[in-house]
Amino acid sequence: MSHRNFRRTLILLQFAFLLLQSSLQAQVNPYQYGGLKHANYAHVAAASAHPLASEVGSTVMKQGGNAVDAAIAMQWALAVVYPGAGNIGGGGFMVARLANGKELTIDYREMAPASAHHDMYIDEGTGKANLKKSQLGHLASGVPGTVAGLFAAHKYAKLTMRQLIAPAILLAEKGFVITEAEARGLNGYASNFKAANTIMPVFLKDGGWKAGDTLVQKDLAETLKRIQQHGADGFYKGKTAKLVADEMKRGGGIITEADMGAYKAKERQPLRTTYRGYEIVGMPPPSSGGVLLAQMLAMLEPYRLDSLGLHSAAAMQLIIEAERLAYADRAEHLGDADFYPVPTRGLMDRAYARERFTKQYTPGVAGKSTMVKAGVPAKQSEETTHLSVADAEGNVVAVTTTLNGGYGSCTVVGGAGFLLNNEMDDFSVQPGVPNMYGALGGEANAIAAGKRMLSSMTPTLVLKDGKPFMVVGTPGGTTIITSVLQSILHIIDFQSNAMDAVNLPKFHHQWYPDVVAVENDFEPALLEQLKAMGYTLAPRGSIGRVELILRSPRGGWEVVADKRGDDSVAGY
Ligand code: GLY
Repeated sequence: MSHRNFRRTLILLQFAFLLLQSSLQAQVNPYQYGGLKHANYAHVAAASAHPLASEVGSTVMKQGGNAVDAAIAMQWALAVVYPGAGNIGGGGFMVARLANGKELTIDYREMAPASAHHDMYIDEGTGKANLKKSQLGHLASGVPGTVAGLFAAHKYAKLTMRQLIAPAILLAEKGFVITEAEARGLNGYASNFKAANTIMPVFLKDGGWKAGDTLVQKDLAETLKRIQQHGADGFYKGKTAKLVADEMKRGGGIITEADMGAYKAKERQPLRTTYRGYEIVGMPPPSSGGVLLAQMLAMLEPYRLDSLGLHSAAAMQLIIEAERLAYADRAEHLGDADFYPVPTRGLMDRAYARERFTKQYTPGVAGKSTMVKAGVPAKQSEETTHLSVADAEGNVVAVTTTLNGGYGSCTVVGGAGFLLNNEMDDFSVQPGVPNMYGALGGEANAIAAGKRMLSSMTPTLVLKDGKPFMVVGTPGGTTIITSVLQSILHIIDFQSNAMDAVNLPKFHHQWYPDVVAVENDFEPALLEQLKAMGYTLAPRGSIGRVELILRSPRGGWEVVADKRGDDSVAGY
């Protein structure tokens, strides 16, 4: 390269870097950044799975945006910097409370394409479900909802969508350095990327990825620019929709341009319950999280967990048995309420939940899932990511969003640069056949065209004295609901500090398999006590990645990002 060309390239690179910096006004540099796990901020707080996304959220609020603006900009940014779960090719739920007291939820869960049908994963020859098809590659994807959801949320935001999407475009176009965990993730999924793609995506690298490598996503940047220019139509119509349909045709999938054009996000009435004087605001079906959380809290409220003690065998037994019963109801009764008569209120009914619990619970003796069936409700609801945001006006937002498995279906839309979900596996593909999280389901969650698959995502707000007190959520497939439950119990019952509420070990029971999943760092003596009660324990490396914001008694917000990943907080 001549001296003149070299100087010109250098000036261009410097200009690009300045542009990126001024757009993000970030304290972190996309080519060299760390993370922050815990902070107290006087005004605004954000937590997410990636330091750059949290910083984008904080910066957007500094520029005059509110918590909704921040959540939208963070989701766009996560789609770039956290490809394993942050997404535009997946879906999610937003639960928000605005400073004026309005509470809302936005359902942008993926939908089954028009030609999806009840038995689409059943092999004709064997009559058995082919889970490979519901989990990997083109046929595994539902019609993506995230872009529609962010535009539906935008009416509660202050800045233009052009502004909110700009940081993500720059991060995709100019690149950012990847962390050790991301390098491990991309390398670990390399064979799936090869199997699930017709055009090899940027996520494959000769010789493998290492921490500090720069990931540039030009096609994704172009897709984001089309959205910036044409709004949601830049995704659901025109070039992007055609690229999706073409990708499907090449790979044997079924999403068409018409499916893309028909997708709608929905605003739904939040679910509300109370627990020991706190108000809980959660997500209704197609999330199972709001319903199950309310049910388990209703079962546990009569017991003095605090006097039994945090991580005592007796307190853990109560929580495990509540989890067992709630997940039995999940399998039978929960699905998309637009398609199936989900008895949401009946399942959340306190008397129903408590009667079921007292019939089943014997202190000191493990229950048996074979003895537990779904109840008859009273008459009258893992690779994912969560972000929590709170602003100075008192707006609070909890968003959980997902591609389902790590990197979703692993199919990247050729020419459009984004990963598609493998959310069809969250339907019950065949009665008695567990999905990738081991969850069972029935007719309530059977596949039908245009239906949304049941989710465990549980973005949750907790209010105290009528004001926002806690913003919480986590990824983790079916463990999401029990991790949110335990984070809430840590704070309300056990008076844990915010760091402990997020980072102390968690456990999980989901009816079937009849085992208690336990993180590695529980005391061995406690685990022996649980075994002596009759529990089968299944050690697990890690459960969930909670992002928690608490209103601080001194004013402002205390925010914690889970130690289990690259998760990071930002604010001021
Ligand atoms: N894909 C995980 C969930 O929605 O529950």
